[in-house]
Amino acid sequence: MTLAVLLVALAQGPAPPAPSIVPAPATLTRRAGALTFAAITAVTVPDTGHAELRALARMLADELSAPAARTVPVRAADALAGGTVTIALMLDTALALDPEGYRLTVGPEGARLVAPSPAGLFYGIQTVRQLLPPGEPGAALPALEIEDWPRFRYRGMHLDVGRHLFPVAFIKKYIDLMAMYKMNTFHWHLTEDQGWRIEIRKYPRLTTVGAWRQETIREKNFSPYVGDGTPYGGFYTQAQVREIVTYARARYITIVPEIEMPGHSKAALAAYPELACTPGPFRVATVWGVHEDIYCPSDATFAFLEDVLTEVMDLFPGQYIHIGGDEAPKTRWERSPVAQAVIRREGLANAHELQSWFIRRIERFLTAHGRRLIGWDEILEGGLAPDATVMSWRGMVGGIAAARQGHDVIMTPSSHVYFDHYQGSPAFEPLAIGGYAPLEKVYAFEPMPAELTPEEARHVLGAQGNVWTEYIATPEHVEYMAVPRMLALAEVVWSPRERREWSGFVARLPAQLRRLDALDVRYRIPGVRGLEADRLTLADSITIRLESLLPEAQIVYTLAGADGSPARTQIYDGPVRVSVRPGPVRVTARVVLPGDRTSPARSATFAHTTLRRAEPVDADALAPGLRVAYYEGRMSRAARLVTLRPARRAIAPGVALPGDARQEQFGLRFTGYLLAPEDGIYEFALTSDDGSLLRIAGHTVIDHDGFHSSADKPGVIALAAGAHGFELLYFQAGGDRELRLQTRRDGEPLRDLPAEWLAHAR
Ligand code: ACM
Repeated sequence: MTLAVLLVALAQGPAPPAPSIVPAPATLTRRAGALTFAAITAVTVPDTGHAELRALARMLADELSAPAARTVPVRAADALAGGTVTIALMLDTALALDPEGYRLTVGPEGARLVAPSPAGLFYGIQTVRQLLPPGEPGAALPALEIEDWPRFRYRGMHLDVGRHLFPVAFIKKYIDLMAMYKMNTFHWHLTEDQGWRIEIRKYPRLTTVGAWRQETIREKNFSPYVGDGTPYGGFYTQAQVREIVTYARARYITIVPEIEMPGHSKAALAAYPELACTPGPFRVATVWGVHEDIYCPSDATFAFLEDVLTEVMDLFPGQYIHIGGDEAPKTRWERSPVAQAVIRREGLANAHELQSWFIRRIERFLTAHGRRLIGWDEILEGGLAPDATVMSWRGMVGGIAAARQGHDVIMTPSSHVYFDHYQGSPAFEPLAIGGYAPLEKVYAFEPMPAELTPEEARHVLGAQGNVWTEYIATPEHVEYMAVPRMLALAEVVWSPRERREWSGFVARLPAQLRRLDALDVRYRIPGVRGLEADRLTLADSITIRLESLLPEAQIVYTLAGADGSPARTQIYDGPVRVSVRPGPVRVTARVVLPGDRTSPARSATFAHTTLRRAEPVDADALAPGLRVAYYEGRMSRAARLVTLRPARRAIAPGVALPGDARQEQFGLRFTGYLLAPEDGIYEFALTSDDGSLLRIAGHTVIDHDGFHSSADKPGVIALAAGAHGFELLYFQAGGDRELRLQTRRDGEPLRDLPAEWLAHAR
């Protein structure tokens, strides 16, 4: 069969629905007609002696067999007589396409999938799978042409098995899900304070001791400690690891194993206390967070780590070995004669340079064995190892700095792609570590920083979603946190920038969810839209508009009045006008799918308000910008800043972190006036990491206080035109830092607070 024959769409088959492919292919052109399954004779390969090609053909034939309701055979192309209808798989190393790209042509006469590499064929097969009807037997593939290739070559998902571990069967399911969405790297976080999860033959105590903790804290570290009283543990044997590596390789997924150092190593120290700077004994951690006991930079530690890495390199064939490097407090090193002796001997300035020296030494070892080191962005501190790749998690700043130094970078900012963060209101979600990364935010993530030159941008290899599992103990919960956010990320890293469009993604999502249902994936059903924030009105009533991303879903809602009337559950069938006099109305709503599966609830209050009167301030007495006070020291609430003495004061043009903002503790207090340009309702969104607090006209508009990672919080106030007292408080407790205040009127898009709205008394 020739391509020319394929392209001539003679027979008109039944018209299958428009393809809902995620991630969106780079190019897709629909043709008239369809390829009916009943007609397909075989999947062909040019040469059945090519084992990898034959395996790919078998994979495709198996996918077709269910909807075709018979076993579709794999045949050598020249073994079939003319006139047969086949799906032809071909490798063409001369094809001018990205190595992971493919070209797929489907017509009534047959289909052809060609790629420059087996990986490209694999991705083409994933696309064909998504053209097949999900679950139920169907009739046909739509006629079309697709030429497709990835935007980024590193497309990752991470899974922390240190805090909780998951069965081998689930790891495989996770890999299957990644592969279906054309992700190609699985970052397997294997060692933690709370458990060492990989068998190392030379150090059996890592798994007899280090893999087991006495119990696990209930709830959060910041609460008084209450353990659950249940021993927890387990690990993966080397045989299981090999099985998973082989399984991943067959799906064109490389595994990047992470062996954490020098921090997050308490489980290893529990097993081998001689690797610490203090005598111990240590226990495998039962609380989360950052622990001060880390590996001592001793000869014994390096001998141990090199032995461990030798076994790890033997298990994992990929080029990258992840060595962690994050969150390693230097308290023990500062008081350790061993660590101090290394600092003196090596002429290092401080403990940060000692960490850098530690990582460089490990890099030399990995490089000598033909591997490359990758680490979290803390490995920038004290100087990067010569060939290190940086995984930027505390925002994009570390990634940008590394790319500018000519180092490769993977973007995995906690602000957008930490899939352990909340995806709805904490009141209605399972307990999570914090943050807020709803589906839309993940979809809006742009891994390529605009400020990089083309030369620097080449170092941004891609992005990754991280699933840390402090509060995620079961496979179902991992699926709930990772899906559908992983689908949004898959499109971010695969599809061309200009093909990425939220409404298109939303239109393709329902078919994907049906596909995931058929695979028994317990994803989170996206919740109701329209209740993201409380709303105020100057009128007596307000219109509530609710929406679901899923067209076949129903929305049910309840209205609870301030008058104490019992809430009634109703089915939403269009905008609802509700009276907000005499009291506010609270709306709670859920999406209900056929079969009665429901989304988490969402809730917002709708209330009447009156304009807050402006202050009688003389415009001549005002100057542009806000007063800002800087505070130093450890703090846990922004609200407390008003009781402290600032270290210095200045005038700032607006609300932002100072250019020299640090990872360590500090606080900021902005004061002055907000100059409302006209009477009306002003909405605000405050993004911060850690806590923040916005007060306008003496009223707390947004209380976003306390320890947390990057998250947005909305607030709203009605202001008369003119000057209103403005105060914004912020504190940074460690780790990532972020502060942004945005505003909007009347459903417009959010924008940064205009500088001309801010002033202070001269
Ligand atoms: C990290 O989230 N500590 C890399």
